[in-house]
Amino acid sequence: MTSPDRPFLRAFENSVMPPPLWLMRQAGRYLPEYRKLRSKVSNFQELCNTPDLAVDITLQPIKRFGFDAAIIFSDILLLPSALGQELRFEDGSTPRLAPAIRTNGDLIRLREDNYISFLTPTLDALAMTRSRLPKETSLIGFAGAPWTVATYMTRGDSTGDTRAEAKLFYYRDPKNFTRLLDILTRATIDYLVKQVEAGANAIQLFESWAGDLPENVFRDCSLKPIANITKSLREKYPELPILLFSKGSGLLQKLYATETDISAISIDSATPLSWAKEELQPCKLVQGNLDPYALLAGGPHMEREIDSIMEHLSPGRFVFNLGHGILPATPIENVERLIKRVREYRS
Ligand code: CP3
Repeated sequence: MTSPDRPFLRAFENSVMPPPLWLMRQAGRYLPEYRKLRSKVSNFQELCNTPDLAVDITLQPIKRFGFDAAIIFSDILLLPSALGQELRFEDGSTPRLAPAIRTNGDLIRLREDNYISFLTPTLDALAMTRSRLPKETSLIGFAGAPWTVATYMTRGDSTGDTRAEAKLFYYRDPKNFTRLLDILTRATIDYLVKQVEAGANAIQLFESWAGDLPENVFRDCSLKPIANITKSLREKYPELPILLFSKGSGLLQKLYATETDISAISIDSATPLSWAKEELQPCKLVQGNLDPYALLAGGPHMEREIDSIMEHLSPGRFVFNLGHGILPATPIENVERLIKRVREYRS
């Protein structure tokens, strides 16, 4: 049996025109059909943990817009919740994991076995989604990168900078902070392998909070865990597309490209296009990077930005996306215009 033709997967080999297109957070509050389902349950986690609902939500943007890839509806914080922390999503504030993990003594509270059983709803949703997706549409599984997940785990209920407690734990007690990163690395590998077994065709890692790390800390806390995760996945799945989104990492993104086995870098909106073309695209696929506010605003500015991204990156290996997640106030018409502009682009 030959494998189905999936433009998103083909783009990892060669330039595909028009380029494959999907949007980070494409299943979410800007969609009326999402808000309708969301209003029927008491909280966001219930959506993630009810496979029928998670599948319907994952498919919503595919049905409406025909994106080339679906991303499973879930959250990066379900993994630390499976490891034993209590997770709370409250409207209008950042999610919280409690009690905070800030010392060696706190680490023993984390579950080191059987945590995957708490993630079964997402694995079931992946399998069901794959069976219901059009065959040409790819399915993306995901996880948070260990550093970013650790920022939430160490933060607990504190209201300060998201990264403060993780940095302090690392600076004061690098050995035990590294143990936390190792626990997360192992659990993330396990979880991603299960996602691929359930039907994910590609994997994206989200590193949202590595943007202001000094280079040596970046190497220890972001680059190294990501290199370990990709190495393990690569041994098991030599062809698996592994994408990495590392917001705010600027020039250091080059290190992921040269020192890890990822397949693609999803660049944020502040990454210069000419730099991405020259420094990243020769060795990795580049995904990105329209500013979500340009999409929200729409109009001629958005169209010029889309054209500029296409001009720079579409001749190489490229997937069109945003530079961060779509904003809840984004008009549907602007998403329709974006798709038309990308698919009808002529250089
Ligand atoms: O992209 C997708 O459509 C897949 C689903 C997805 C969600 N979160 C759903 C979600 C993915 C890939 C994520 C990743 C995620 N979650 C990240 C990394 C990417 C980034 O944005 O930097 C982070 C840091 C989180 C943690 C998280 N989850 C935050 C900070 C918030 C609150 C902010 C917000 O947008 O509300 C969430 C909640 C969340 N995760 C929502 C969705 C659709 C909103 C929940 C709701 O409907 O009330």
